[in-house]
Amino acid sequence: MKRFLDLAHFERDEVLSLLELARRLENHPEPHALTGKILGLVFFNPSLRTLASFQAGMARLGGTSFVITPGQGTWQLETRLGVKMDGAAAEHVREGIPVLASYCDALGIRAFADGRDLQADLAETNFNAMAELVDKPLINLESAMNHPCQALADWKTMDDLGVPRHGKFVLSWVYHPRALPLAVPAATVHMAAMRGMQVTVLRPEGFELPPQVMEKARRAAALAGGTVHETSDRDEALEGAHIVYAKEWGATVCYGDAEADAELRRGLTHWCVRNDWFTRTAADCRLMHCLPVRRNTAVADEVLDGPRSVVLREAHNRLIVQMAVLYRMLRGVQ
Ligand code: CP
Repeated sequence: MKRFLDLAHFERDEVLSLLELARRLENHPEPHALTGKILGLVFFNPSLRTLASFQAGMARLGGTSFVITPGQGTWQLETRLGVKMDGAAAEHVREGIPVLASYCDALGIRAFADGRDLQADLAETNFNAMAELVDKPLINLESAMNHPCQALADWKTMDDLGVPRHGKFVLSWVYHPRALPLAVPAATVHMAAMRGMQVTVLRPEGFELPPQVMEKARRAAALAGGTVHETSDRDEALEGAHIVYAKEWGATVCYGDAEADAELRRGLTHWCVRNDWFTRTAADCRLMHCLPVRRNTAVADEVLDGPRSVVLREAHNRLIVQMAVLYRMLRGVQ
């Protein structure tokens, strides 16, 4: 495996095989599997889980890692092409990224959406421009429209909990004071569809997921025996749900317009998951969220601290599945 950029680049059986490897490494640790190997991690945006779990995972397999946060202790890196570099950035990614790749055996890059031009973000313009500069195994640590490591961890979390393959999965928009990127919702709806689930995207008007995202999920669902549906009717969406996956994202009808987005979300503060969201769900319905989450804004304490919440298990599974990704990248199929 040379690149781990999008679950859609893999057959369903290949994802299942990665999850099987993850489970093996969880139950039978291999502390010397990656001795002598080096992972480089470049974070253009903040992180808690991704940064710590990749470093921990590499160490648990006997390898080592370095972290670059451009502009914080290292040169600020310019990502735009063709610009006159007379601003804060001292170095361009066209030099910086291949130099870093030359120091390691695999590289991970986190670069969020610009959040200005939806089509450019859907095309992964920024991430792909950097990916082209890397001749080593490459991992997407979250790009404009994808977060495959989170998606794989969430798939494993549902398997751990015995959530039915064709169970009902509700990806619900929840409130946040400002627009957040589409990477996690886009990756999540595709992952649940690829797992074969009955997927409902629940969101207020104006926050529809882009047609390209929905179409990609529908193609995955068709192959896996699932379905994908979108609604703003909360009662309809939650009826019989096995999973409520809460996520914040920006309005798509006015993408890149912070003022219009703020106006649209002003009256939506009641989109905070509370216990009464679960009155029509399956009795053992679980609450998922990728974290970080704003308590009592996106999800209430009573849910996060209650038995339905599996957010900590999801976060722990980031470590486990990423070890499988690293193992397969740096050791091959074993
Ligand atoms: N879920 C996730 O990717 O967390 P971080 O942003 O903290 O890495």
